[in-house]
Order: sequence, then C-alpha cells, then structure tokens
Amino acid sequence: MGIVFGRELIIEAVRITEPAAVASAQKVGHGDPDGADQAAVDAMRRMFEHVNIRGTVVIGEGEKDEAPMLYIGEKVGTGQGPAVDIAVDPLEGTTIVAEGRNNALCVLAIGERGAFLHAPDVYMMKIAVGPKAAGHIDLRKNIAFNCRAVAKALEKPIRYLTVVVLDRPRHEDIIRELRQLGVRIKLIGDGDVSAALSTAVPDSGVDMLIGIGGSTEGVLAAAALRCLGGEIQGRLTPIGDSQVRRIRELKIRNVDRVYRTADMAGGSDVIFAATGVTDGDFLKGVRFGDRLIYTHSMVLRAKTGTVRYIDAQRRYFKKP
Ligand code: FBP
Repeated sequence: MGIVFGRELIIEAVRITEPAAVASAQKVGHGDPDGADQAAVDAMRRMFEHVNIRGTVVIGEGEKDEAPMLYIGEKVGTGQGPAVDIAVDPLEGTTIVAEGRNNALCVLAIGERGAFLHAPDVYMMKIAVGPKAAGHIDLRKNIAFNCRAVAKALEKPIRYLTVVVLDRPRHEDIIRELRQLGVRIKLIGDGDVSAALSTAVPDSGVDMLIGIGGSTEGVLAAAALRCLGGEIQGRLTPIGDSQVRRIRELKIRNVDRVYRTADMAGGSDVIFAATGVTDGDFLKGVRFGDRLIYTHSMVLRAKTGTVRYIDAQRRYFKKP
C-alpha cells in the first residue's frame, strides 16, 4: 500500500476507455448485448498492452473459465511500472447499447494492490449520494430515514428529492415507499454505475440512488464516489440459489456487513475513468461525425480530487 501513481496514468486510463466506447458504440441498436460487450472488451484489452503497469484484474468480466479476456486474476499492462489492481466494466449497460438507449458507459478504475473489494458476482443493496449528503446516509436504516436525511443535507423539501431506482420487480416495495414519501423517482432500465455517479455530478438532477444492482458495479461506483467525495454503502444481497451457493463457497460469513465507500475502493489513491457510449446524464455518447469520431470522457483522481472532462476526436481512417 502507499504507492504513488504517475500522473500519466490519468491519461492512460482514458486512452483505454475511449476506444472501448467507440467499438461498442458501433453496435448501438443491434439487439446484441453480448456483441456490444465483446467489442468493448477486445478494445480495452488491446489498449492495456501499451500501458506501463503491472496490473491485476480484480473486478472484470468474470472468472477465468467463463471469460477469455479481462477475467479476474488476469495480468494486464506491459509488466513494467507500478503494481496496481484494476476494476473494469468494459461496457456498463450492455442492454442499453443493444436497444440504443441512454447512459451506457465504458468504465475503468485503477487502485493500489488490495484497494478494491473482491466483490463476488452477486447482487448488492446500495445507497449512493453526492458530497453534500455524504455522511448522512445509513443503509441499516429505512428508506424514509435516508430520504429525509438526504433532503435535509441538500437543504430542499423532500418532494424535490430525485431518487434513481432500477426498474425491477424486486424494487416494488422500495418504489411504493418512495411514492408514499412523495419524492421524485427516476426509474431506469439499466446502468446503476452511471446513476450512482450522477448523484455527485453538480446539476445532474439526481440526488440519490437506492436499490439492488450488481456488486461489481457497486465497487466501480465506489471508486468514482471516492474521487468525487460522495458516499456509497452496500450490502451483499444474494438472490436465487446460485448466488446463495456462491456466497457459501466463498465462506463469506458476515453477509450482513455494510461496505462503505473506502471498504470498496480504498488505498491512498484511486483513478477512475469513464467514456460515454450513448448519451447520458453527464457524458455525451460517441458521435460518428463527418470525418471525425467524437468521444466524451471523465477522469477522476481520489488523491487530488481532480475532475477532468476530456473531449477527443479521432479520424476514421488514421487509427485502426
Ligand atoms: P450489464 O452492463 O452487465 O448488462 O449491467 C447493467 C446493469 O443494469 C447494472 O448497471 C446493474 O448493476 C445490473 O445490471 C442490475 O442487474 P439486473 O439486470 O440483473 O437487475
């Protein structure tokens, strides 16, 4: 622990997410979530070969036997430079891209060895907020407590609070409770990393994320919120026999543990990069213009709190 990243890693991170976004954006509306994901994975994996790190994927496409690339434990980078852990979601929102909807991202986080929670591939109950409401949420308490606490921290009447929830049958009770409280609810089809992140982006119009989504997405959201000064709390919530079995196999005893932001994305520094694939709440999607392809990315650094938005243009015929 305690290594110092070179600043160049900040730009390297976005050089990895940009081509992944361009590759998967070519699959928008094709009705092929796996194809869109594969395009992002291939592009990301190729870019890693040029980055001077001794990287180990700790959040990736799955276990080695189920994912040929960017699998958990895979070594990435040139093998020179700092030893780092990598958390990736090459395409966050595979169905979003397949259906040509909003808020798909290519996401990468880089941390020290041991920085990221090795989250098992099960669901996680999460609450996420931006910097002003950080320190005011408590996953152990009920929805009403949390909404009231966040509204108070944001100095707004509760009816103006906007809460994002994944539109899933498992959230019926949460949605009912939110409606009784009178908060505004933004139901999304997919993409809770983007939703968690948007709580910490000024003027995104989103105040809070509540609900059950992927635990690996929880770790990536934690990496971003750590950089932005927001907060996420998550509790592993296995649903279905195979997830319960997975938790047992991993001998996770304290299943009720509430993981906080730094439990999921710790260490002295974290770099987080995301490039928009389709238009979203805080990033534009890839645009295929005349002669040029435009990308829009965000790169964050925990240690300095720096937030960078990067607009890039690439030529169709100059770069593969
Ligand atoms: P994918 O990009 O892997 O399809 O994940 C999209 C997503 O909506 C995540 O943002 C979210 O955490 C998870 O799926 C929710 O899972 P489910 O679709 O099973 O409810």
